[in-house]
Amino acid sequence: MSAEPLEIYLEEQELGRGLREDVRVGLTAEPKWLPPKWFYDARGSELFEEITRLPEYYPTRAERTVLAEHAGEIAELTGAKTLIELGSGSSEKTRLLLDAFTRRGGLGTFVPLDVSVSALRQSTAQIAADYPGLRVRGVVADFTRHLDRLPTGGRRLVVLLGGTIGNLLPIERAEFLTAMRAALEPGDRLLVGTDLVKDPGVIVPAYDDAAGVTAEFNRNVLRVINRELGADFDPDAFRHVALWDPEHEWIEMRLRAERPMRVRVLDLDVDFAAGEELRTEVSAKFRPEGIAAELTGAGFAPQAFWTDPDGLFGVTLARAD
Ligand code: SAH
Ligand code: AVI
Repeated sequence: MSAEPLEIYLEEQELGRGLREDVRVGLTAEPKWLPPKWFYDARGSELFEEITRLPEYYPTRAERTVLAEHAGEIAELTGAKTLIELGSGSSEKTRLLLDAFTRRGGLGTFVPLDVSVSALRQSTAQIAADYPGLRVRGVVADFTRHLDRLPTGGRRLVVLLGGTIGNLLPIERAEFLTAMRAALEPGDRLLVGTDLVKDPGVIVPAYDDAAGVTAEFNRNVLRVINRELGADFDPDAFRHVALWDPEHEWIEMRLRAERPMRVRVLDLDVDFAAGEELRTEVSAKFRPEGIAAELTGAGFAPQAFWTDPDGLFGVTLARAD
């Protein structure tokens, strides 16, 4: 079956408006910050895929190991008719779930949802070609805003893989889980991948790789702002910083101005002092008891928690109560 045309909940203009608002708020704040969803234009999505293949970046491999081991059980435990993937990207690991559901039977529809049109175009075309008989409905949307519009009907399994939930700030995470629960019916399931707290000596290199791919991914947000808003950032004048915050147990990616700069963006003159840092992402690491508590607090009943043999990455299955 060929993929259906993408369903657009987020028009270009609205995306532009969101970026303008975030830039205005974030670049006039003290300290300066930007939300990580703006990394993912076509180039940013490609750079992320490159990151997943880096020797230092363990989360993708570890999560794939978990899914390879437990996909059959997930298909059995959920009995889903519809699989919805938030922040789907290439949906590469999701194929392990689609394979398990294909063996089990009963899954009719796959709904990958992402802000990245380019990632969705590629993934929907490839998955529709590789899973004949599966309805593939790609949705361009923001999972922090559009959960009330998820497809209904039949038992649903919503998956959020890769540790992407950790890119939300704690308050955003709580809001996301509450909205997620409100969008589901009792008996629907949520499968969420979380990177786990471990030795920072393992975590930091995953965000500061020797080949400099993560640095390019980080700087890409400045390229997006230059292109979309006509700003005049010099991305090469910013150094990539990845810092472990032991109090919050998260990695912060920042861009450090290497010299004093004035950047023109929208109607703003944004001044950077030499050494000033702009926070571009947090990537929270979790403890099993913390994940369970957050899910329970939002109205989910955790059903299973699996990790890879090295205990690097966790995958939790929870039932909407
Ligand atoms: N799930 C994939 C990709 C992770 S990268 C994996 O595990 O490898 C994070 C993905 O989430 C990107 O494709 C990005 O475009 C998407 N994304 C980030 N913020 C989003 C948001 N608010 N709404 C929808 N998609 C988002
Ligand atoms: C998508 N997300 C889970 C990635 C992460 O690890 O937080 C994004 C990323 N940032 C730097 N490298 C990868």
